[in-house]
Amino acid sequence: MTNIIDGKAIAKEIREGLEKEVSTMTTTPGLAVVIVGDDPASAVYVRNKEKACENVGIISTKHALSAKTTEAELLSLIEKLNQDNKIHGILVQLPLPKQINEDKIIEAITPKKDVDGFHPFNVGRLVTGRPTFKSCTPYGIMELLKKTGIDIKGKDAVVVGRSNIVGKPMAIMLLAEHATVTICHSRTNDLESKVKGADIVIAAVGITEIIKGDWIKEGAVVIDVGMNRNAEGKLCGDVDFEGAKQRASFITPVPGGVGPMTIAMLLANTVESAKNSK
Ligand code: GUN
Repeated sequence: MTNIIDGKAIAKEIREGLEKEVSTMTTTPGLAVVIVGDDPASAVYVRNKEKACENVGIISTKHALSAKTTEAELLSLIEKLNQDNKIHGILVQLPLPKQINEDKIIEAITPKKDVDGFHPFNVGRLVTGRPTFKSCTPYGIMELLKKTGIDIKGKDAVVVGRSNIVGKPMAIMLLAEHATVTICHSRTNDLESKVKGADIVIAAVGITEIIKGDWIKEGAVVIDVGMNRNAEGKLCGDVDFEGAKQRASFITPVPGGVGPMTIAMLLANTVESAKNSK
């Protein structure tokens, strides 16, 4: 019997816990959300993040900048937010317009307010086994696995995707929980055989249904981070869900799997940052 992991319900539980926690805090957590340009997908993500903040009692302040914003202008805003003691988290929605160097922006955010967990300081802490802020999507996936009671120790995990935001930190987090981790990507030779050997598959490569149902080992755990549109405009993941469902023991749907967890962990990081600011 396949179990569908209900990310929406688990994320709701986490948000409710955070709401309770915030109501007892003397400092109201503050998150600055910066969006540059008018990418429609980014606008939806930012709106969802703001709504979620409001629901748990985090004050979010949105800074919507024009697509023509210069790197210097954005750096100057970040410096102001770094100094603002009402702000405990700074989120700069990616991608940024091409005149702005993303790495430079990420490194300008003080690691203490880097609730996305993208700053090399926080990444380095994760890699060396002393995590501070963790990237929200892989952090959310680890919470999904733990709350679902999935045993990670000693398992063969295959992460498909090597982004700084998901694939790389995901591999490190699984390794920290004693999985044996293989990182694959769009140019991996014979991806099929790698996936076929996996007890845990994390698909985060951004290619519609690249992971076929019959690649999934009987009883494997399948986590789908993909958010793609197919030819008919329907939202779908990196995994052939219907096929994989026949073989997996646990699987996340798209939507309603990983997505809601990313936002929940952003809120958790922001609350944590406000607590640390004392
Ligand atoms: N763009 C896509 N995912 C993310 C994310 O988790 N954080 C930020 N800042 N931008 C993103």
